[in-house]
Amino acid sequence: MENFTFYSPTYFVFGKEEENNAGKYVKRFGGTKVLLHYGGGSVVRSGLLDRVKASLSAEHIPYVELGGVKPNPRSGLVYEGIELCRKEKVDFVLAIGGGSTIDSSKAIAAGTVYSGDFWDFYQGKLVEEALPIGIILTISAAGSEGSADSVITNENGMYKRGATGEALRPTFSILNPALTQTLPPFQTACGITDIMAHLFERYFTNTQEVEVTDRMIEGLLLTMIHEGPRVIEDPNNYEARANIMWAGMMGHNNSCGVGRIQDWASHDIEHELSALYDCAHGAGLAVVFPAWMTYVYKHDVMRFAKLAVRVWGCQMDFANPERTALEGISALRRFWKSLGMPSNFAELGAKEEDIPQMAHTACYGDGRTGTLGNFVKLHEEDVANIYRLMV
Ligand code: NZQ
Ligand code: ZN
Repeated sequence: MENFTFYSPTYFVFGKEEENNAGKYVKRFGGTKVLLHYGGGSVVRSGLLDRVKASLSAEHIPYVELGGVKPNPRSGLVYEGIELCRKEKVDFVLAIGGGSTIDSSKAIAAGTVYSGDFWDFYQGKLVEEALPIGIILTISAAGSEGSADSVITNENGMYKRGATGEALRPTFSILNPALTQTLPPFQTACGITDIMAHLFERYFTNTQEVEVTDRMIEGLLLTMIHEGPRVIEDPNNYEARANIMWAGMMGHNNSCGVGRIQDWASHDIEHELSALYDCAHGAGLAVVFPAWMTYVYKHDVMRFAKLAVRVWGCQMDFANPERTALEGISALRRFWKSLGMPSNFAELGAKEEDIPQMAHTACYGDGRTGTLGNFVKLHEEDVANIYRLMV
């Protein structure tokens, strides 16, 4: 196991109707003027925004609002939010929505107290200071409600980059699984896929002797495989949604990623797709991950076989472990397909002729140094080959 530090100070509030206490938590964590940040309208239609506003008013906390965050959140709205926060002397950012709204909120929170261009953080500068952020989560997916990360699409070139820093960890996150019951099945399935992808990014490591986190990851994956079909069949299944919601947080706050070198090539490969074609991040991952696995599994056949046996229930073929490893990858493809996820470029709306450009941007764009991932270091040609496996 590698040395590590783990600091996850977010105060989680889990359960039914807890969003009505948002005002109390803002007050408890020191907010006196709030930016309410949200997406394209789901929180308006569901009445959630009004309930949160009422909870702020009940605590006599003034607020300004900025809606309109698009999935794969854009840099333009972040600049707008920073300007608004400075003008209105906002000291607390409250995100109501999914990963896109949360990440846009994190960017605004960091940018407001920074004298330079907020994009510096998305080119590798560590975020050391930000306004405090609170979350009311409406979709189990990105895990941003417990993570120290934010992903933004730069509109000047349409490419996605991530920023990180402990200051981006939310001060509190309200997780009410019932809020996710209004999601269309496709978005629910995208979320399940993303949660599983965060677990795979951590599972595929060259670090030895990490059994405790291996087992945690396997347990969370088994939960997703159990609960995913239940919630697709019955979107109002609160208990299934509750398990998925907590798994999404656990899967990405890094409690099961500590002590190991993680991979993350598949996320970088996917981010080119969602930036260029504006597809849902989870849908992109459903296409990318099986292709990446097929390309790299020979690097550590036994790790792939272990996953196949422990998570997908495959029989270990001791004479031919490669067969077991491949069976596991096939089981994953089948599972995501059964949830309604796409499995190739055409279903994503992606184009074969864009492969060289995407592979180049992924490896060299905006400060990147030529390789992706850690399990297997991928060069531009490898990334292009992985994209070709998706056609
Ligand atoms: O915008 P509204 O109208 O709210 O609609 C959203 C959006 O269209 C809708 N939605 C959300 N909750 C809903 C709902 N519709 C009905 N009922 C509800 N309860 O769902 C759509 C997708 O929302 P979005 O926030 O984009 O989803 P998600 O949570 O999957 O976030 C995706 C973003 O997170 C980034 C991705 O790259 C992508 O940009 N990621 C962030 C990470 C992080 N910060 O740690 C890690 C992830 O790997 C990921 O890269
Ligand atoms: Zn993700």
